[in-house]
Amino acid sequence: MTTDELDSIVASARRAFAGAATPAHLENAKAQFTGKAGRITDLMKGLGALSVEAKKARGAAINAAKQAIEAALSERRQQLADAELQAQLKAEALDISLPGRLREPGGLHPVSLTMERIERIFASMGFDVADGPEIESDWHSFTSLNNPPNHPARSMQDTFYVDIDGDDGIPYNLRPHTSPMQVRYAHQHIKKYADQVKAGGTMPEIRVIAPGRTYRVDSDATHSPMFHQCEGLWLGENVSFKDLKVVFTDFCRTFFESDDLALRFRPSFFPFTEPSAEIDIQFQSGPMAGRWLEVAGSGQVHPAVVRNMGLDPEHYIGFAFGMGPDRLTMLRYGVNDLRLFFDGDIRFLRQFR
Ligand code: PHE
Repeated sequence: MTTDELDSIVASARRAFAGAATPAHLENAKAQFTGKAGRITDLMKGLGALSVEAKKARGAAINAAKQAIEAALSERRQQLADAELQAQLKAEALDISLPGRLREPGGLHPVSLTMERIERIFASMGFDVADGPEIESDWHSFTSLNNPPNHPARSMQDTFYVDIDGDDGIPYNLRPHTSPMQVRYAHQHIKKYADQVKAGGTMPEIRVIAPGRTYRVDSDATHSPMFHQCEGLWLGENVSFKDLKVVFTDFCRTFFESDDLALRFRPSFFPFTEPSAEIDIQFQSGPMAGRWLEVAGSGQVHPAVVRNMGLDPEHYIGFAFGMGPDRLTMLRYGVNDLRLFFDGDIRFLRQFR
C-alpha cells in the first residue's frame, strides 16, 4: 500500500462527507472509513503482519490519514450544524417591522359626552342630577302633567305602550319625554326633607336636571324612535321666568363656548307649563350662522302640576324645560344625520374618542 493510496482514501472520504446532506448521512459515510469495518480500520488490522520498522512507518502514515479524515469529518459536522441553525432561525423568524395589533382605548359615545357636559354645567349652577324609569305610568307621563286621558295634547306625543296595565287600568308607556321626572323628583324631594320640615325647618328649593332616554313614533334624519331628553326643574318661593332666561342663556353660552350666541323665547303650548315657550338659539358665526334652531321646550310650571307634586301653587312657583341632547350634540360637532349616533359604526364613533 502506497502513500498515494492513503491520499486517495482521504480524498474519497472528503468527497463522501461533502456529499452528505444530513447529519445521519454524514455518520453513515464516516462508518465506511473509520468505523469497525471501515477502510482505515482494515488497514490498521493489516499492520500486524509487518516488521517492526515497517510497522512504525506504515502506522504513522495511516494515523496521519485517519487524522485528516477526522478533521474533514468534524468540519463537515460543523457545517451541517450551522446550516441547520440557519434554517431554524429562518423558519422561526419574527417580522418585527409589522405594525402591532393594539387594543385601542374605548371612548364615550358623543351623546354621552354631551350628557356629561350638560350635567357638569348645571351642577355648577347648583342643580341635582336625577334618574328615572323609561317604562312609565300613564299618570306620570301625562295626567300628573295636566294632560288627562282624551286631551288632544296627548296626540303630540304618539306613544309606545307596554302590554302591562298600571293600577289605574291604563297600560304603561315608554316615556315620550323626561317631564314625568318633574313630579317624581318633587315627591322624592318632599319626602327627603319631611323630618326637617316637621321639626320646624324649611325645605330647600327644588333644582334638578333629569337626563335620559325617551321614545316616540318618529324616524327620519332628525328624529329617532329612541332619543334623549334632559329635563330641568327649578321650583321655589320666588323663581320667575326671568330666572329661566338667565339660567338657560348661561347654559347655552357655556355649552357652545360662545358669548355672542343669541336666544329667542317663542310663545308655545304645553299642558304642564303656563306661559310656555320654545327656546331657539342662533349662532353668529360658523356654518350655522344666522339660522334659528330649536333646542328646548320650556315654561312656568302649571299650578295643576305643582298641586300634583303635593305643593301649594300659592307658595311654590318656578320653571321647567326639556331639551334634546341629541340635537345639541349634532350642533356642537356639526353632524347632520341623527341616525349616525345610533348605527354603532365604529368609524364614526371613534372620531369622538
Ligand atoms: N316635555 C316637553 C317635550 O317633550 C318639553 C318641555 C319640558 C316643555 C318642560 C316645557 C317644560 O316636548
